[in-house]
Amino acid sequence: MKKNLKNKKILLIISGGIAAYKCLDLIRLLKKQHVEIKTVLTKSAKNFVTPLSVAALSKGKVYQDFFDAESESEFDHISLSRWADVILIAPATANIIAKFANGIADDLASTLVLASNKDTILVPAMNVRMWINSITKKNFNKLFSNGYLSVGPEIGEMACGEYGQGKMSDPKIILDYLNNFFNNKNILKSKNLSAIITAGPTREHLDPVRFITNKSSGLQGYEIAKSLDKIGINTTIISGPVKLDISNKIKKIDVVTGKEMLNAVKKNLPTDIFVGTAAVSDYTFNTFYNKKIKKDEKDEIKIILKKNADILEYVSNHNSMRPKLVIGFAAETSNLIKNGKNKLAKKHCDWIIANDISNENFGIDSVFNEVSIIDKNFNIEKIEYSKKSFIADKIADRIVKTFI
Ligand code: C5P
Repeated sequence: MKKNLKNKKILLIISGGIAAYKCLDLIRLLKKQHVEIKTVLTKSAKNFVTPLSVAALSKGKVYQDFFDAESESEFDHISLSRWADVILIAPATANIIAKFANGIADDLASTLVLASNKDTILVPAMNVRMWINSITKKNFNKLFSNGYLSVGPEIGEMACGEYGQGKMSDPKIILDYLNNFFNNKNILKSKNLSAIITAGPTREHLDPVRFITNKSSGLQGYEIAKSLDKIGINTTIISGPVKLDISNKIKKIDVVTGKEMLNAVKKNLPTDIFVGTAAVSDYTFNTFYNKKIKKDEKDEIKIILKKNADILEYVSNHNSMRPKLVIGFAAETSNLIKNGKNKLAKKHCDWIIANDISNENFGIDSVFNEVSIIDKNFNIEKIEYSKKSFIADKIADRIVKTFI
């Protein structure tokens, strides 16, 4: 693999677990790759490794105390984070994960992570029971949803003699992860990729106060936009009426009807990636009444609906400006995979992400989802029941892989 770590600046936070000893080897390997390293040791980490050995191997200052008379005047918690290309927490104990997840800032390590906007990679290490404890899981998932990255933990025999998941990944695995991470970043940067995401429902108006819409919350699309933005893709979200916010780094275009959504998509083409998560109304009213329709004596009135333009189909078949990757969604209440495959063929997109909306515990209008990615060769990758933010990260990962 291409080596991408030369002159990278890694801020290594060592927290207090028995696996901390592995960090000495990790520092040695990183130094061999000409990485610049600064280290922070939590108070309990010093029970497992000495500041002297960390300083000797990293060839730099070891930051320990928040209230360091020598250097706190430099605002270590701010300057260290500013300096770093990436923050690596190895080992990340259940305690430090809990602190990060709850915004606790009671020492240098937790304060600088709270004050940082840099990519932060956790390398969890703990006893298996601590790892599978639902409180740790919740804390970890919260961080994951907020964009933290992670390596491991691995399954194996632990220092305490128990067997299970919780072992800190070996330094070589962490090194491979970092190489991959910077490699992907470099490639993505050089490719300067862009993406358009459609999200949310549309509203098709009959008159100024009446419209057809659906239960789509827009959350899955917003999360995908966030995940793509996070990895450096120039992202535009074209959104129907939803109650969601998004960072102003992402270009957002608000629309109401399917027709407006189509026009906004057309205006923003060409793009490298198109993800159609919007639940566009299949039909719209044939006639729009400028004034509110009055109730009259008739018991029945007939309203004619006509087909709305299919945005996904338009983009997929737009040969001169077809994005390299066109992804559609298929919300299905039955025959998920069969219907997904049919939609893939009919709409000529590259992937269909099929999601089951028959179960009210996930899918439409929920923070959870369960999806299957079906590609052109009908290979299927299932992403089990998870938060939509997690699913978005997985989808973004897979998108990146198709461009590398
Ligand atoms: O045909 P169906 O609505 O089930 O297909 C769903 C997929 O097609 C989604 O990706 C959705 O965003 C897209 N779609 C669209 N324009 C429409 C209808 C659906 O882009 N008018």
